[in-house]
Amino acid sequence: MQVHNKIDNLKTDISNYKSANKKIGFVPTMGALHEGHLSLIKVAKENAEIVVVSVFVNPTQFNDPNDYKKYPRNFSKDTEILKNAGAHIVFMPFEEEIYPGKDTRQFDFGALERVMEGKHRPGHFNGVAQVVSRLFDIVEPDVAVFGEKDFQQLTIIRKMVKDYNYPTKILGAPIVRETDGLAMSSRNQRLTSEQRKNAAFINQILAASKNKTHQLSVEQVENWVTESLNKIDHLKVEYFQIVDQETLQPINNWQENCDKIGCIAVYCGEIRLIDNIKYSL
Ligand code: PAF
Repeated sequence: MQVHNKIDNLKTDISNYKSANKKIGFVPTMGALHEGHLSLIKVAKENAEIVVVSVFVNPTQFNDPNDYKKYPRNFSKDTEILKNAGAHIVFMPFEEEIYPGKDTRQFDFGALERVMEGKHRPGHFNGVAQVVSRLFDIVEPDVAVFGEKDFQQLTIIRKMVKDYNYPTKILGAPIVRETDGLAMSSRNQRLTSEQRKNAAFINQILAASKNKTHQLSVEQVENWVTESLNKIDHLKVEYFQIVDQETLQPINNWQENCDKIGCIAVYCGEIRLIDNIKYSL
C-alpha cells in the first residue's frame, strides 16, 4: 500500500494503474476509521481493481469550529486499518495541497440543500462539494463510494456528478450498525459510556416507527419519534423529517407515490449524531 501526502506523487501512482487499464475505485473519508468505512472499501473493491482511500478532515464543511477541532484524528491507526483492509493507495494530503488558496467556489444544489442537514448546518454541503470535487479532479476515479448514513450527502454528490459531468459512477453503501443498532460513526467515540448506551435508542425508536405507519399520519410519526427520543436522558432531537428519497422534500401523507425515508439529527450531550430509516409501505 502506498501512502501519499502530495498530489503529484499520488497522480503518478494512479496514472501507472490507469495506463495498465485498471479501474480506479475511490473512498473519500475524514479518517477515524471504523467498520462503516471498511464496508465502503469492500464495495469499492467489488467494483474496481485499484482502491484509493483519502483521509482528510475537511475544514470547509464544518460550520461549528469546535466540532472541527474535536473531530477524532488518528492517522497512524488509520494507515494500519487501511493496510489490513487491502486498500492500494492512501491519500493523506496536507491542507495546502487541497486548498492552496481560499476556495471561493459556490455550489448550488437547489431544494436538495435547503432541508435537514443543509438547513441546520449552513455552508456544510458547499464545503463537502468543494472537497469532493477537488478530490475527484485529482483522483479521477471510475467509481466512488459513499455511505447511506449521510443520505442527503449521497444525494447531493449524485447531483454534483450529474451537473458537472463527472465521469465517476457513484455507489451508496448501506449503514453499518453496532449490535445495539447505533449507526457507526467516528463521532461515537466521543460519547461517554452512559451517552453511548442511550444513543442506541435512536435506531430503536426509528425501527419501531416503521410499525406506526398504519395508525399514524406522517406528521404524527414525526412527532412520536421526536417526543420518544426527547424523553431519554442526554438526547435532544434537532430534526426528524420524513421525505421523498429522491427529492428530499417533506411528504405529507403515506399515499404519496415515492420512496420514503426518515432522516434524523440528534444531539447526544454535545455530540451530534445522524441516522435514517427507509419506510416501505
Ligand atoms: O462523509 C464524509 O466523511 C465526508 O463528508 C467526506 C465525503 C469524506 C468529505 O469530506
